[in-house]
Amino acid sequence: MVEATPPRKRTIDDLDLAGRRVFIRVDFNVPVADGTITDDTRIRASLPTIRHAIDAGATVILASHLGRPKGQRRDDLTLRPVAERLSELLDRPVTFATDAVGAAAEAAVAETPAGGIVLLENLRFHAGEEANDAAFARSLADLADSFVNDAFGAAHRAHASTEGIVRHVRQAAAGLLMTAELDYLGRALSDPARPFVAVIGGAKVSSKLDVIRNLLERVDTLLIGGAMAYTFFKQQGRPVGRSLVEDDLLDADAEVFARARARERRAVLELPVDHLVATALDAASADVLAVDDPAIGDRMGVDIGPQTLRRYATVLSKAKTVVWNGPMGVFERDPFAAGTTGVARAVADVDGTTIVGGGDSIAAVAKAGVTDRISHISTGGGASLEFLGGRTLPGVAALPDRVGTSRV
Ligand code: 3PG
Repeated sequence: MVEATPPRKRTIDDLDLAGRRVFIRVDFNVPVADGTITDDTRIRASLPTIRHAIDAGATVILASHLGRPKGQRRDDLTLRPVAERLSELLDRPVTFATDAVGAAAEAAVAETPAGGIVLLENLRFHAGEEANDAAFARSLADLADSFVNDAFGAAHRAHASTEGIVRHVRQAAAGLLMTAELDYLGRALSDPARPFVAVIGGAKVSSKLDVIRNLLERVDTLLIGGAMAYTFFKQQGRPVGRSLVEDDLLDADAEVFARARARERRAVLELPVDHLVATALDAASADVLAVDDPAIGDRMGVDIGPQTLRRYATVLSKAKTVVWNGPMGVFERDPFAAGTTGVARAVADVDGTTIVGGGDSIAAVAKAGVTDRISHISTGGGASLEFLGGRTLPGVAALPDRVGTSRV
């Protein structure tokens, strides 16, 4: 059964921000190595929201987590390099507050001229953030007049800056990135243009069982790849060699596999028909075998085979909506990358809406050079999986629904 589209959330467009201080929760949880940001995609993704607030006459207070410091201040997880990068990207000064709450935060906000930008230090240096502590949430809320949540990537966390804060602010809304994420993913689940095809891959089926369960009810075709296929194969009594198999799932989740098998018979679910097998993940080469071929011996599957890629590309060529999460094999290694980059190209060629999520699939799309030809690259890893798995995201649920058209 497919539900009606969920109500739209109030957006930053609905807020009157002129002369106000707006607290924007962003997800600047970016990879940092020795103080250098190695991928600034998430910072760039929130620039439209930040620019929108500045253009509307607001003073902007940005807050994010970085890594998992568990309530401890850690020099390697400071957001200071992010403030510098943000300042370069916006071409304007960004004040860095050395703490997210208390005197340092209050002083940085007070000293920032109207129309300026402050980035607070890592929220997770305070245990109150992850504990969703009411006093900590209130301290954050007290810094500003309005709250905007643009952190889709952290929306599956019920933390003080994503959930609790909403109870302490006068007005709250979703940012432009958050709104785009909810629109793309929400439409795919509730009202997709058809055929709707999902491609799910990656190492572990356990992390995507809910997604598979939920999508099986909604898609026209679900294409499976990556190491997770071997848990399905083992359950079906096919030879898997030393491929990665989650044995503990075979009994515990027998019902999902039985349902998948039934769907497979109706071609709603497709598993690889051939694969590349290698002696080790760092082997120089691999052989192509049919998935039923016992010649796999004690080797392991490392990519989908050419026949599978052709089948999957044919299915994708007819799709009007595509959701892709998870690689088809060990694509980081060039000898085993053809399946994943081939799927990336097939997704890019789709004449319809394409949504790619998960760090590995996003990297694969970049490796194939087709990032610009994807309709929507989701910034949420865990968050997009939970959303596609049918769970309510606390950071989204906390935001008010959009009612009427007047500004607040
Ligand atoms: C992410 O990178 O998926 C988000 O920023 C959430 O981070 P977390 O898993 O540490 O909560």
